Parts: sequence; C-alpha cells; structure tokens
Amino acid sequence: MSVRQHTISRVLITGGAGFLGSHLCEKLLQKGLFVICIDDFSSGCLSNLRRIQDHPKFEMITHDVCIPFDVQVDAIYHLACPASPQSYQQDPIKTLKTNFLGSLHALECAQKNKARILLSSTSEVYGDPVCSPQKESYFGNVNPIGPRACYDEGKRSAEALFSDFHRKYKLPIKIVRIFNTYGPHMLPDDGRVISNFIIQALENTPLTIYGDGSQTRSFCYVDDLIEGLITFMECDQNLKGPLNLGNPHEMRIDTLATTIIELLNSKSTIQFLPALQDDPQKRRPSIELAEKWINFSPKVSLEEGLKKTIDYFAGAIV
Ligand SMILES: NC(=O)c1ccc[n+]([C@@H]2O[C@H](COP(=O)([O-])OP(=O)(O)OC[C@H]3O[C@@H](n4cnc5c(N)ncnc54)[C@H](O)[C@@H]3O)[C@@H](O)[C@H]2O)c1
Repeated sequence: MSVRQHTISRVLITGGAGFLGSHLCEKLLQKGLFVICIDDFSSGCLSNLRRIQDHPKFEMITHDVCIPFDVQVDAIYHLACPASPQSYQQDPIKTLKTNFLGSLHALECAQKNKARILLSSTSEVYGDPVCSPQKESYFGNVNPIGPRACYDEGKRSAEALFSDFHRKYKLPIKIVRIFNTYGPHMLPDDGRVISNFIIQALENTPLTIYGDGSQTRSFCYVDDLIEGLITFMECDQNLKGPLNLGNPHEMRIDTLATTIIELLNSKSTIQFLPALQDDPQKRRPSIELAEKWINFSPKVSLEEGLKKTIDYFAGAIV
C-alpha cells in the first residue's frame, strides 16, 4: 500500500448538491474541512443539503460550471455532470458542454489556486466491455455516435483534458472511474435502476426491466464510495489514476428485482420491456489497483445498503 497524507483544509465540490456530492460535502465537514459547493441544481436539489446548509464551514454557490469560476481552495472534487441516463439524455449538448467546458473551468481554477483536482469519471468509459472484470488498462468499447455518447464520450474527453493539464502543466490530478453507486439522496424519478425498483416495489406496481434481465451490474453503497474518493484524493499525489472504485459483487438485474421485492415484501410483479440502445451487458470493476493503492475494500453488503436506501425512499431517514 502506498498512502501518504496531504494537508487539505478548503475544498471545492462541483455538483455538491447531487447524490454523491451531498454525501461528500457532509463527510468532509465531519472531518473539519471548509467546504464550498458549486451547483446549478439541474439534477441536484437543496433538500440533499438540508443537514449541512447552516454549517459554519459550508458555503453554497449557485453557478453553472460551463461558465468560468474561481474559488480559493486547495483541493477540488469535480463532480458536476448529470449522471442518470434520463438526465444526461434530456439535453445531450449541454451534457457534452458540462463535461468538456465544466472540466476545463475546474482545471483552470485548480491551476490558478495550485489546488489538487479529482475528476469523477465513470465505468461508462468502458462502454459495452468485451472483457470482465474491467481493469483500468482496458480502453473500452464505446459507440461514439449513439444516444449515450454525450455522457460516455463526454467523460472520455474530460479524462483526456485532465491528462493533458497534467502533462503540460504538471497539475496534480486524480481520475476516478466510478461504478454504479446507490443510496439515500438519489432522485426517486431519474431512472436509475435501484431507485426505480424501490419506488415501484413500494407502490406495488410492476418492476420494469429493459431487456431480458440477464445483464449484470455491480452496486456499491454510497458510504464505501465516498470513503474511497476521499482516501484517493488525500493519498500520494503521484498516484493519479485512472482508478476504478466500486463494488465487485456482480449480479443480474432480474436477481436485483427479486431481491428488492422480497426485502419489501411487495406485491409487485416484473415487467420486461425492450432493451435500451447501447445498454452494456456486463459491468464489474476490477478493484485490484484500488486495493493496492488505497487499501480500498467495500464494507456494506447489498442487503444492508438496500435496507438503508429503502428507509430513505419510505421517508424514514433524510
Ligand atoms: N452515481 C453513480 O453511480 C455514478 C457512477 C459513475 C460516475 N458518477 C459521476 O459522479 C458524479 C456525481 O454523480 P451523481 O450520481 O451524484 O449525479 P447527480 O446528477 O445526482 O449529481 C450531479 C450534480 O451536478 C450538478 N450539475 C450538473 N450540471 C451542472 C453544471 N453545468 N453546473 C453546475 N452543476 C451541475 C447537478 O445539479 C447535480 O447536483 C457525476 O460526475 C457522475 O458522472 C456517478
């Protein structure tokens, strides 16, 4: 393991009002850091920040990252980008702009303030992979002109831009490829599979599966992912990635549906709909590198994570 602590006291989180960003804000405040959040609230919401919005070390800036910004910080977590297929396909040109221009502006802010910067990239850069599990060395199998390209190719362009800022200006960068993550603060209606299934099961309506249900995903509970992001940001700056973060426990989508129906004791049935274009058949991270570099090891079981997420959607926790 190669972990060296780096002193960070003021951080900027772009996309901090979103699902992952809001958990990250909260965790960094708990660690005693000053946290500044930039968000345009296009897919995030203020209610995600209600536990921290009055914290004396928290500042919220409403801003679109496609427009340049400058904030004095010593680290930037660049998360701003719609993440669910429904939200990133709603305005694909804006998604491409957010990925490229938003990343450019975040990098320029980091350069000006001599800050370390982390990109939240995605397993979608692997496209529909021909190998499993996916290692960081795999270049991917992405359709560059399909309906998901605004996100997949957008993130690939962001990775390229981060890498060129590092090569040209020696900017300390970190690239993380996040695999499917779930938990409280996901939107109930943005089409992500776990939130979809839980809402449908709570309402006793059919769980909708696109395709025959044999496609696989690996789901990571949000607390495990956030711990990985922070540890990677704070470790040796020579370790820049790309680094996969996720839970390697792979399961079929029809098994996930059955598990959620059982956990909720729901009367829901399963409805099969036509497969979505370019929907990957397999998704499972190799986390060997994350184990080696930052001792990463997801701790929350699927059942435990699903129960917490169900409690959130059932209104039992905020
Ligand atoms: N959740 C996952 O499973 C997952 C998987 C892979 C990668 N990621 C990446 O992690 C990041 C966060 O994902 P999430 O799941 O929290 O998504 P999210 O949609 O909940 O959060 C994204 C946040 O960015 C904000 N945003 C979007 N465009 C913006 C713009 N132009 N200017 C300012 N703010 C903007 C949104 O309002 C939202 O608050 C994204 O970059 C996403 O690509 C997430």
